[in-house]
Amino acid sequence: MNKFYHIHTYGCQMNVHESEKLAGALRDRGYASTDDVAAADTIVMNTCCVRGTAESKVYGHLGRLKSQKKRGSVLVVCGCMTQQPNVANELAKRCPFVDIVLGTFNQYLLGEYIDNFLHTGVKTVDVWESQRDENCEGAAPYRTSGINAWVNIMYGCNNFCTYCIVPYVRGRERSRPIYDILGEVDDLLKSGYKQITLLGQNVNSYAYKDKRFIDLLRMLDCDRKYRLKFMTSHPKDISPELASLYAQSKVLGKSLHLPVQAGSDRILEAMNRHYTRDEYLDKIAAFRALVPDIGLSSDVMVGFPTETEDDFMQTLDLVERVRYNNLFMFIYSRRSGTPADKMEQLDYKTKQARIDRLIKAQFEISKSLASETVGNTYEVLVSDKTDGHCYGKTQYDAAVSFDSDAVEVGDFVNVKIISAKNANLRGEVVL
Ligand code: SAH
Ligand code: SF4
Ligand code: F3S
Repeated sequence: MNKFYHIHTYGCQMNVHESEKLAGALRDRGYASTDDVAAADTIVMNTCCVRGTAESKVYGHLGRLKSQKKRGSVLVVCGCMTQQPNVANELAKRCPFVDIVLGTFNQYLLGEYIDNFLHTGVKTVDVWESQRDENCEGAAPYRTSGINAWVNIMYGCNNFCTYCIVPYVRGRERSRPIYDILGEVDDLLKSGYKQITLLGQNVNSYAYKDKRFIDLLRMLDCDRKYRLKFMTSHPKDISPELASLYAQSKVLGKSLHLPVQAGSDRILEAMNRHYTRDEYLDKIAAFRALVPDIGLSSDVMVGFPTETEDDFMQTLDLVERVRYNNLFMFIYSRRSGTPADKMEQLDYKTKQARIDRLIKAQFEISKSLASETVGNTYEVLVSDKTDGHCYGKTQYDAAVSFDSDAVEVGDFVNVKIISAKNANLRGEVVL
């Protein structure tokens, strides 16, 4: 009889890719995937805890699963949320219908934990404090991201930004051997993937023996037609060499995600970010000098402890100066165990009012940048096609929709932008 799994993923791309590895382990055991939780023999919740909202969603979801799941199914909770102190035990108490709880360092053993549970029926709560094995890549991923393939280059983070839980739940930085990465990318390109996205909490600190991030990017620059992306970069570590590589590279997409978090020097220092507003703006200028239309995106937070109206105005000002094509905006969320949790907090109303102003400002920027593209032609990588309606992204990372019967998913095509509605671009194929 067929067995089915259902995986629900919260959080960042790193988690999305880890879920692909969990799926790989389950498929190795003969499971197939299902969208229907009631039909699943194994349900996995791969969790996130970067903000409080992510955690409350998981508890709400688990409450619903209790009645939805079929009898005898195995319920697994893993990922960043369970890696926090006491959460695994609390979860086991609050949700006794959960069968297996794992952290972030032992997810690669998922298959063995399930085998053990099915064999013995004994529930397991096992969260490690740090990585134990050198090789913990886990099963070959079962990829679900279409033409894009995620490739881990490093794990963990050493930066300890004062608001952030990630270094506590993902451990210290460790880089994958460069030849493993090159081999994986080579296989992926041979099997037809058109975009490779390198993953790490801070890819700029990639270090394997004498090889650094820039060496890895150079080694991935080849004559094969594909698009290379990476995330995430830390502004303190991004080098001028990278800007020149962007200008020369045949494969690097002309976009950069460079999270700024705040525009006030006082707040940046309190966040432990190790750069000033001017240093950040200089780095952006250096990139723009070499790659004029580079597509820029960023993460920004409002309502960090002690943030004044003036601090916020500086964030707003920075956002208006840079004019990001895409901005991810967050309200600061208290995370237990981080230094910022012990600082003087702002009230909810102030934080909400600030994010509303920021969202409004960014909306106008995105709209205006989008309208400036009308009439231009871009190289678009087609990622979706349904009934002749196509969707893809330009080399500057802008999303475009267009109609064509001739193109296929995975094609690179030239598309001329014919209209922009807010930030949504419509185009037509040009030959
Ligand atoms: N390593 C990456 C991303 C980490 S998490 C980086 O350094 O950019 C993704 C984003 O979540 C962060 O960039 C930050 O803007 C946001 N974030 C992290 N901790 C947060 C918190 N406590 N409250 C609100 N947003 C947070
Ligand atoms: Fe968190 Fe900072 Fe590390 Fe990013 S660099 S994961 S924001 S501690
Ligand atoms: Fe969330 Fe963990 Fe990613 S906390 S953002 S899933 S690293």
